[in-house]
Amino acid sequence: MRLELQGALPAMVETELLVVFAADQSASKEKDAKPELTLLTSDESVQQASSYILDSGEFKATLNEILLLHRPQGLRATRLLLVGLGKEAKLSVHDLRKAAGTAVRFAKPRGIRSLTIVPPDNFGSSQTFRAIAEGAIVADFDSDTYRTDRKDTSIASVSILVIEANRSDAEVGLREGIVVAESQNFARTLINEPSNRMTPTLLGQKALEMAEEFGLKCDVYGAAKLHELKMGAFWSVAQGSDEPPALIVMTYEPAEAPAEPVFGLVGKGITFDTGGISIKPADNMEKMKYDMAGGAAMIGAMRAIAQLKPKVKAICIVCATENMPSGKAQKPGDVQIAMSGKSIEVINTDAEGRLVLADGLFYARQLGATHLIDAATLTGAIAIALGQVNAGAFSNNDAVYESFAKALETSGEKFWRMPMEDEYRDQIQSSIADIRNTGLTRYGGATNAAMFLKEFVDETPWIHLDIASTAWLDADKSWIAKGPTGIAVRSIVEWVRSYGE
Ligand code: BES
Ligand code: ZN
Ligand code: ZN
Repeated sequence: MRLELQGALPAMVETELLVVFAADQSASKEKDAKPELTLLTSDESVQQASSYILDSGEFKATLNEILLLHRPQGLRATRLLLVGLGKEAKLSVHDLRKAAGTAVRFAKPRGIRSLTIVPPDNFGSSQTFRAIAEGAIVADFDSDTYRTDRKDTSIASVSILVIEANRSDAEVGLREGIVVAESQNFARTLINEPSNRMTPTLLGQKALEMAEEFGLKCDVYGAAKLHELKMGAFWSVAQGSDEPPALIVMTYEPAEAPAEPVFGLVGKGITFDTGGISIKPADNMEKMKYDMAGGAAMIGAMRAIAQLKPKVKAICIVCATENMPSGKAQKPGDVQIAMSGKSIEVINTDAEGRLVLADGLFYARQLGATHLIDAATLTGAIAIALGQVNAGAFSNNDAVYESFAKALETSGEKFWRMPMEDEYRDQIQSSIADIRNTGLTRYGGATNAAMFLKEFVDETPWIHLDIASTAWLDADKSWIAKGPTGIAVRSIVEWVRSYGE
C-alpha cells in the first residue's frame, strides 16, 4: 500500500472512493435519542452531496458505521463513503485510526484499489495523520495466505488530504505511522505462519533478513550456545523437540546514544506449544502456532526502531523453540537450573513460556540492559481476568510503568496494569527447589507467572506484557481482520522512543 499526502480540495479529487467522517453532536445519553449529525469537513460540496442522506435519519454516525453514496453530486469522486466516529464530545485519534481502517476494509472486497481520506477539519496534528496511516495499513492485512482461491484484494494507494498549514506535521505523522504499522504487519505475518513453516530456525532467518535490510546487528545461536551460557531453563523446553532452538539476539546501537539506558526487549518465541508432557487438549491446539507472538512483536518493534532511530540503545532477545512431548522431553517434577543459578521445579511442562523467558531476561541483563520489557502469550489466565479486550501489563517499578502508560496514550493499544505484590510470592515456593513454575492454586494465574519472571529481573526496572488475551482475533472487526493482531509492537516502539527523542 502506498500512502501519500495530497493538497487538494475534496470536491476536486478524482478518486474511486472519497472517505469523510461524521459524528454525533448530541449530548444526550439516551440510547434512542435522535442524533445531531455533523460532517467533520466544512467543505461545501461534500456537505451538499451528503445533506440529503444526513437528513434522512438512515445514518447515525455511530463509531465505524458506514454509508455509501454512488456518484455523489458535485464531486469528482466516483463514490462517497461516510464513516461514523460516534459522539463528537468523546472523539479521539484512536477512534479515527479505527474508522480509517473501516474504510479500507470496506473497499478491499469491492474491487476498489485506491481511496482518498479527508481528515476531520480540527484534527491537523501529526498524531492525526499517524493514526490514519496506521489504521489504513493495519486494515490492509488479511491472513488467508495459503488459500489457492485467494484474491489479492490489497489496496494500492491511499491519499490523505492535507491543507498547507498542516503539511509538515502531517509528513512527520505519516512517516511514523507507516513505519510502525508496517512493522506491526511484519510481526503479524510471522505469527500467521503455521509451525511447519515458522520453525525456530526459520524465525531466526526472518530476523536475520530483517536486520540486514534495516541495518541492525543480529546473531542467531543454536543449542550449543544455550549450553555454553548454561541456559538450563530455556534448554529444558527445547530438549523435547527435534527442531533445534534459536536464540535470536539483535542490537541497535546508534553512535549518538548515551551509555544508558539500554533497553532489553525479550520475547517468548514458542513456535508451537503442545504443552509438552503436560499435553494440551486437542480443541484449539492449532492456535498454539501463535505462541511466538511476543517474540514476533519484539522483532517487529526492532524493525521500527531501526528506522525511527531514537537515540537510545536496544537489545532484543527472542527465545525460540517448540514445546513438544517426546522421549527426550522434560517431565513434571524435573528440576532445572536456570542461567541465573536459580533452581526450578517444573510442575507443569505447559508453563514453558516463563522458563524460556527466565533465561532470556537474565541474559539481557548480562548483556547490559538497564530497562527490561518482555512480551509473551504467557497465560490463559490473563484472558480469564481481562477478557479479549485488554492485555495484561505488570511492572516492578511505578515510575517506569508511568512512562509505559504514557506511551499507551499514543499507541492506542489496550493494556491493563495487574498487581504483583510480594504476598503472591508464596504461590511459587517449592519444597525441593528455589521456585516452582506454576502457582500452588489456579487463582491469579497471570500474576503467578509474572512473579516467576520477577525472580530473574531482580531490581532492574521491568515491564511484562502478557498478550495471550489479545494476540489473536477469532472474528473480523470492521477495522482489522481476524487472526494475529500484532499487539504490543506500537506500544513498545513508543515507549523506547520516549527515552530517546
Ligand atoms: N501458551 C500458553 C498460554 C496461552 C493460552 C496462550 C491460551 C494463548 C492462548 C502457555 O504456555 C500455557 O500453556 N500456560 C498455561 C499455564 C498453566 C499450566 C499454569 C495456561 O495458561 O494454562
Ligand atoms: Zn504452554
Ligand atoms: Zn506457551
